[in-house]
Amino acid sequence: MIERAEGVWLYDIEGNRYLDCLAAYSAVNQGHCHPAIMKAMIEQAGKVTLTSRAFRNDQLPLLCKELHNLTGFEMALMMNSGVEAVESAIKVARKWNYTRKGIPSGQAELIVCSNNFHGRTISVVGFSSEPQYRDAFGPFQAGFKMIPFGDAQVLRRAITANTCAFLIEPIQGEAGVILPPDGFLEEAAALCRDHNVLLVADEIQSGLGRTGKMFACMHEFVMPDILILGKALSGGFYPGVGGAFIAQDSERAQPWRSWEHIWGKPSGLCDCACGVAGDRGRGPGCAVG
Ligand SMILES: Cc1ncc(COP(=O)(O)O)c(C=O)c1O
Repeated sequence: MIERAEGVWLYDIEGNRYLDCLAAYSAVNQGHCHPAIMKAMIEQAGKVTLTSRAFRNDQLPLLCKELHNLTGFEMALMMNSGVEAVESAIKVARKWNYTRKGIPSGQAELIVCSNNFHGRTISVVGFSSEPQYRDAFGPFQAGFKMIPFGDAQVLRRAITANTCAFLIEPIQGEAGVILPPDGFLEEAAALCRDHNVLLVADEIQSGLGRTGKMFACMHEFVMPDILILGKALSGGFYPGVGGAFIAQDSERAQPWRSWEHIWGKPSGLCDCACGVAGDRGRGPGCAVG
């Protein structure tokens, strides 16, 4: 029974110490109770915690700048949870395809992989291959096509004129830490590029330093059109940015308006301050370098 934690260590109520190799499923990549993130959260909580999205604030731009410096990407939208970021990425991908690529309305197909895990909302469990996640929750949304993870030939055959995006975990986490065959990510990225299909990488589990590179896609020098990040953005602190989707190039994500994806409780200033500190908090003493 865990009582406290610090850095990479967990302590139970009897004082036993454990090396935490799970990092709360990638929520505390910077280590537990990271002092810089905690300090940022406490300081911000005493200033202003949340504004509605009708107002600008002084923290969100800093977080966007950190994300831009980290990835080179042009646009970002903060969400309250990872699965919300996945949902928003799907909406943006569909809208781009309808308005820019001319897929007939309502016909967009998004390719996903078997054994995927992208969260727990009704549309996301609807394209899961895991009966435990789906059973008794249907009916589900149409518009998703499932292929085996890591097979570029099947991906090539699955792409049609109505394919709007390929959504992938570069390393499948929940499925048991499954790596794709060497070269798959590179081949998948090339197929997406050749067919003008958006590549959407869910790096909630594999990103932000979890696999020895900042993002798992980088193992094959691939950067997706849309990158989905999650809870580690703010080091697992609550409140904290639970997710974000960021787009490499504004043209590949337009037309997107933030109010189409967030409304009542946008990520607050505490969330953003944690995000900024979380990003700067990598380095010596962190769970990840
Ligand atoms: C790869 C992946 N995508 C999406 C999610 C969903 O994130 P959240 O639980 O913050 O909604 C998770 C959660 O662990 C995840 O591992």
